[in-house]
Amino acid sequence: MLQTNFVDYTFENPLMNASGVHCMTDKELDELSASKAGAFVTKSTTINLREGNPSPRYYDVPLGSINSMGLPNLGLQYYLDYAIDRQDKFDAPIFFSIAGMSVAENIEMLEVIQASDFNGVTELNLSCPNVPGKPQVAYDFPLTEEILTKVFSFFTKPLGIKLPPYFDLAHFDEMAAILNKFPLTYVNSINSVGNGLYIDVEQESVVIKPKDGFGGIGGEYIKPTALANVRAFYTRLNPSIKIVGTGGIRNGQDAFEHLLCGATMLQIGTELHKEGPAIFDRIAAELEAIMEEKGYETIDEFRGKLKSITD
Ligand code: FUM
Repeated sequence: MLQTNFVDYTFENPLMNASGVHCMTDKELDELSASKAGAFVTKSTTINLREGNPSPRYYDVPLGSINSMGLPNLGLQYYLDYAIDRQDKFDAPIFFSIAGMSVAENIEMLEVIQASDFNGVTELNLSCPNVPGKPQVAYDFPLTEEILTKVFSFFTKPLGIKLPPYFDLAHFDEMAAILNKFPLTYVNSINSVGNGLYIDVEQESVVIKPKDGFGGIGGEYIKPTALANVRAFYTRLNPSIKIVGTGGIRNGQDAFEHLLCGATMLQIGTELHKEGPAIFDRIAAELEAIMEEKGYETIDEFRGKLKSITD
């Protein structure tokens, strides 16, 4: 019932982790693969291991989360070895996330991936808001186009990009016009809403240490922004570019809404951090119950079919 066709493969369901949550080590990744999730993605990697920002750097709050992890990861070779080793044991393709500190670092990693035996899907993260001194790449439109031009001059494996949220229709138009020039497999919308500030009133203090408490916001707070970005790109991009919907998915209804806006796969971050991998059983069951109640047998029957209000 929840089966989803994506990159020439039929996934058992569209549910995945969002990169950054429960995907740092091989143990966490194996737990995701053993869970009800239809697929999983590795932690965004740099060439070399990174410690990331000082702790506390992730904080759950009632309506979501705030984080400034700073891309801690175990390095390209660690995740590539893992993915190449496991890809023959798992049925579903593995998603592999990279987030270089520079254009050159991203190109170097993609060259290594291109030359490797990795046969899954690569996600180029152009939207990490948490590295001090490094603005989110995808807010720079000419730079995004320059990177994609370089990437697609040699990279031939399936590639998606992870975008930050946009807040203006002119920006959706402008970014979509750029993305439509490239053979992208998918666009993942959205990364966290960058540089929010959460305050502990009792302590009269910020709750995370890096960047004086500024961090990416996830969870319930960001669902309307995520849905708007999914919808905006679904209605602007070539149909060959699929949408991965990320942001504010806490239950089956949230998943249904992302699918109605046009998402093909769905990534869960904050709520996975709160509940652990058992969340995928719950959300899959809740989504199936909603579909049954509405009389849908497949996701394709309602994907993207959000109605407008007309006279
Ligand atoms: O700071 C981090 O590691 C988060 C990365 C991201 O949001 O892409």
